[in-house]
Amino acid sequence: MPESVLVVEDDRELRDLLVEVLRSRGYHAVPFSNARSALRAIAAGQGADVVVTDLKMPGMRGEDLLRELRERSSEVNVIVITAFGSIDSAIALIKAGAYDYLTKPLNTGDLVAAVERALAESRVRRETMQRIQAGGGGPAGFVGRSAPMQRLYELIARAAHSRHPVIITGESGTGKELVARALHQTRGNAPFIAVNCGALPETLLESELFGHEKGAFTGADQPKAGLFEAADTGTLFLDEIADLPVVLQPKLLRAIEREEIRRVGATTARQLDVRIVAATNRNLEEEVRAGRFREDLFWRLNVLHLHLPPLRERSEDVPLLVAHFLSQAIAERERQDNLNGSPHLGAARRLAPDTISLLLRYPWPGNVRELRNAIQRATTLARTDEIQPDDLPLRIREPARSAASPTGTPRRVPLREFERRYLLEVLQEVGGNKTRAAEILGLDRKTLSRKLEEYQQDPTSEAP
Ligand SMILES: Nc1ncnc2c1ncn2[C@@H]1O[C@H](COP(=O)(O)OP(=O)(O)OP(=O)(O)O)[C@@H](O)[C@H]1O
Ligand SMILES: [Mg+2]
Repeated sequence: MPESVLVVEDDRELRDLLVEVLRSRGYHAVPFSNARSALRAIAAGQGADVVVTDLKMPGMRGEDLLRELRERSSEVNVIVITAFGSIDSAIALIKAGAYDYLTKPLNTGDLVAAVERALAESRVRRETMQRIQAGGGGPAGFVGRSAPMQRLYELIARAAHSRHPVIITGESGTGKELVARALHQTRGNAPFIAVNCGALPETLLESELFGHEKGAFTGADQPKAGLFEAADTGTLFLDEIADLPVVLQPKLLRAIEREEIRRVGATTARQLDVRIVAATNRNLEEEVRAGRFREDLFWRLNVLHLHLPPLRERSEDVPLLVAHFLSQAIAERERQDNLNGSPHLGAARRLAPDTISLLLRYPWPGNVRELRNAIQRATTLARTDEIQPDDLPLRIREPARSAASPTGTPRRVPLREFERRYLLEVLQEVGGNKTRAAEILGLDRKTLSRKLEEYQQDPTSEAP
């Protein structure tokens, strides 16, 4: 069945043109001369995969149509048509839930491209939601099924097909770079270029980012393309964006707004298609208030915002992460043993009960990275096939004495619940192979089967 695109536009000529263009592309385009009749039709069962709407119309305005659709929690993607020069209000609309905007005079190629992106996005979002509901978790590489992570997966699916900048915030080690890479996946084999904005002095960073012409400064013997150009058609990941030197901030803003850059010393600009993804573990609003970050750049970057909750606020994910990193460490050990031609030296495969209690009690100020490092370290230190508390870093073993217990105490997962999630996660990691899972868990296969049966009969535990 062709996908339905509703076109809401009071100007008859423009409406006819839009409908004609969309029909010629094989879409089922349905025209409406005002927002009310479009809403009524949707309420009456008119299918709508995308809505393209003008903003200024007599009667109900495009903004109100967008709000109504959002309030009815309709999943439909809305593309708004706005007058040239009101980009700021268009960005406000995207924050309010519009999928994209087009500026007048309309370019029909842009319209078709926006509709195609919007449809692709809906498909990915539907698939993601199905995967989450099936208990399969998030995008590739992500472990975690807590409510905040599920919301994040949804937002990632939504943002991945957009061309607008994204800002990712969250404490150190929460997975910001992982999110940036997940967002990039829809760009396939196009380049993903990461740059740390705080790592270089400003003059060097400028030519790193934008490139330079021959003779632009002493030592510039050859022209050189910058990272922006290297990222063309792909993603430029601006890590630690709060550290971007103030003098470079207007240059970045210009590059984003005009979708073009100028090499240092160049007289002409180059057009580029680069998706900007920025990350910071600081509060950018505070940086703006303190005058360290330009408000206009903040506003332009902050179109789509993804926030990663600290691990202590989603402690139900801890067992899953432990299982994930433990299986990873075991696989890595086996790979190396095979390379060395040595027999498997009984790498640590399971956790002593006291070790589990410690992992659950610890607040993980360094978040997922700290947890991953702790597990990796423990598997190499363990002298038997069971990881003992002694194999964990001191700060985890003696949390009471450590200074690293910042905001609040983590919500704890009961031991039994930990075990359940841990087992199920291991089982999933090995593709449901019970023999292999039992081996990793250090249980015999019968015990594993019995436990799995118990979980199924236990009405207090949620479905896996
Ligand atoms: N939900 C997750 N599932 C699996 N692995 C994760 C998850 N979150 C983070 N990781 C892993 O934890 C490590 C740290 O993540 P990442 O580098 O993305 O953090 P970050 O937020 O960029 O930290 P920083 O602010 O210090 O740069 C990486 O190895 C990443 O793959
Ligand atoms: Mg990082």
